[in-house]
Amino acid sequence: MTTASVLPTADEYFLACLNRTIPLLGESALHRLRGCTVGIAGCGGVGAAVALTLARTGVGGFVLADPGSFDLPDINRQWGANVTSLGRNKAEVYAEMLRSINPHVRVRILSGQAITEESLECFFENVNLVMDSLDIAVPTELRMRMFRLARTKGLYSISAPIIGFGAVVAVAAPDGMPMEAVLGAYIEEAAVKARLPEGLRPFFVPEHLGAMEEMMVRHKVPSIAISPVLATSLVCTEALLILLGPTIAGWRPPISLPQTLIAEPLTQQFRVTDVRELAKPKPPRPGAEGQPEATPSVSLSADSPEERRRLLSQVGFNVALLPHHGIAVDLLTDSWSDLPWVEEAEEAASPDASSGGRVETVLQGFYGYKFAVPVFRGRFAEALLAKAAVQQGWTIAANTLFPSTRFHLEASGARLVDLSAADVSSENEEGLFKGNLDLERLAAMVAAQEIQAVYLELAVNAIGGHPVSMANLKRIRTLTETAGVPVFLDATRAFENAVLIQERESGFSSKCLTEIVRELCGLSDACATSLTKDFKSPVGGFVGTNREGLFWKVRELAVLAYGTGLDERNRNRLARALRPPGQTDGPAARVRMVKRLWDRLRPLGVPVLEPVGGHAVFVNASAFLPHLPAAAYPTHALAGALFVEGGVRTIPNMIAPEQKKQGVQMLRLAVPINRYEEKDMDSVGDAFERIMKQRQKIGGLKRVGGPPGLLGDHAAQFQPLPP
Ligand code: F0G
Repeated sequence: MTTASVLPTADEYFLACLNRTIPLLGESALHRLRGCTVGIAGCGGVGAAVALTLARTGVGGFVLADPGSFDLPDINRQWGANVTSLGRNKAEVYAEMLRSINPHVRVRILSGQAITEESLECFFENVNLVMDSLDIAVPTELRMRMFRLARTKGLYSISAPIIGFGAVVAVAAPDGMPMEAVLGAYIEEAAVKARLPEGLRPFFVPEHLGAMEEMMVRHKVPSIAISPVLATSLVCTEALLILLGPTIAGWRPPISLPQTLIAEPLTQQFRVTDVRELAKPKPPRPGAEGQPEATPSVSLSADSPEERRRLLSQVGFNVALLPHHGIAVDLLTDSWSDLPWVEEAEEAASPDASSGGRVETVLQGFYGYKFAVPVFRGRFAEALLAKAAVQQGWTIAANTLFPSTRFHLEASGARLVDLSAADVSSENEEGLFKGNLDLERLAAMVAAQEIQAVYLELAVNAIGGHPVSMANLKRIRTLTETAGVPVFLDATRAFENAVLIQERESGFSSKCLTEIVRELCGLSDACATSLTKDFKSPVGGFVGTNREGLFWKVRELAVLAYGTGLDERNRNRLARALRPPGQTDGPAARVRMVKRLWDRLRPLGVPVLEPVGGHAVFVNASAFLPHLPAAAYPTHALAGALFVEGGVRTIPNMIAPEQKKQGVQMLRLAVPINRYEEKDMDSVGDAFERIMKQRQKIGGLKRVGGPPGLLGDHAAQFQPLPP
């Protein structure tokens, strides 16, 4: 009998070897794994063990990259290291081991060279997932290039450094927080300054951390056979979740940055934690008294322009992708649901939810509508209102609406016509109420029965919070009411609008903000509102209306689409955050803060949108950097320069179609309520002043990757253009 005649076919072999795994994963999942290829950069204790473990789990393809060969100190933890393999190339030895597990496995090896710029492309060919197990001695920049490349190719990457008996597992999703932003900073600090992040201390044995810090400067780490085995199990679990998706029993989303998994069997820790927390010192764990006091920490913060420049390059020169830790003043958004300081928002809330009463009652009180349907976010409210109140084929007159509002109206089959009275593309346009509609055009369209509804955003976001006047809204109401044309509001920044009416419109200086808001809303049929801009709340939005029929329709849709619209926990969070906005904090204080920043920038000659808005200052980057053509991304370039210079984050504003037509893009400096002080605004002004002097030196950018569509430039990767 020849050997060949007893060898089973590839299919038979695969299924027979995995017949104990089939009950756990199912046969079809295994067939999918067989088609997958995992790239292993560095065949060390963890990387190679991940390959062997995944091969035994059914993964059918591997790319192994490692130029090194086995020596005696590898024997303490590397499965391929033994007396017969000493001196042999690691990638070659592991390729043989993989074939001995599965003779049909697809293996490519990159053994002759380290991971280099040139070999990276080759490494990535047909790969579905990347495991970073590169030696600590590999230049950080190269490792970061690998992560960047993985992201541009839409791939997840995993890294799992071992510490003591345990490990830290970090997974970067292609559309999530980049690995470079976190690991790059840690590795560099660790390798150069021999310090580990302070937040890791409670998880590990102090002597182990000490030994690690001592050896790291020599580009070695202490190890024991236990930790790579643990790290391998943890990594392979995340790898299966990524490769298979929600098709297997017990599936959950893979842990991904900013969340990391830390596990240490000796100290009995197994925790998923936000990586940004690791940079902060933690109180000692119970029973750890008497340990030597922690020495000053390594921080992830970027305190100098050089450090910030490095951080920026690690996220592809896109400030929107910066992790929060490097930022001194974050003017990314004024939306508390999109800001990272959730705890701060919760702490600022009233501890006694009942003091504010039922969410519905509070909203009815603040906005004056008879009915309110609270939901999780403003855009859910928009979706409900559009579905309940707007009909296919309608033409809706509007000012410059927020993209999500526009989307929901168009999704209901409506067509929008922008009847803004002001030219939003010009930063020099006059007018204290640039949110107003052009009444003449509106009257003509109503008379011609060309429009079926009006949709008005208060304190228009697209131009930094320029208000609608009460007089304009009153006229709109009278013009439309007799024709039976409803008026809808985006009342997200109604209180901000009220502050500006109080300041700018005659007859309102002695009215309180709630009175003004109720009067504004009283001129409408319904509103869809986000509650995370005028209030320091991490959640919330609502649909308000006086029409009972519309209320029941929205209510029913809310139940059908989102359960109840707002679950109990979030309802309580929102109830605690809804405080009546007064003159000393909230939107009123924010308007003053924005004005202070605007007053500081304008005399410098910074081309700011005029007059001042309510929640943001807008800067025309093309006018600020006239040497950069639009194709060189002047707005992104200016955002980058501001970050490097002053640790200030600002982002290019999402443009409305009208603005796009005219080629306008502004840099938005949005100020969240109750967060920053005047000195913070002044430091932003200082950064501008320093940049101003050397602005000709700010270079343009070239887009080198990123998703299509609305997210587009927001999540894109850039490279500096040569000067
Ligand atoms: N309407 C306006 C005017 C907004 O500015 C936003 C969000 C929404 C609706 C959507 O509400 O966020 O609760 O779903 N604006 C944020 C910003 C995201 O940064 O301007 P949401």
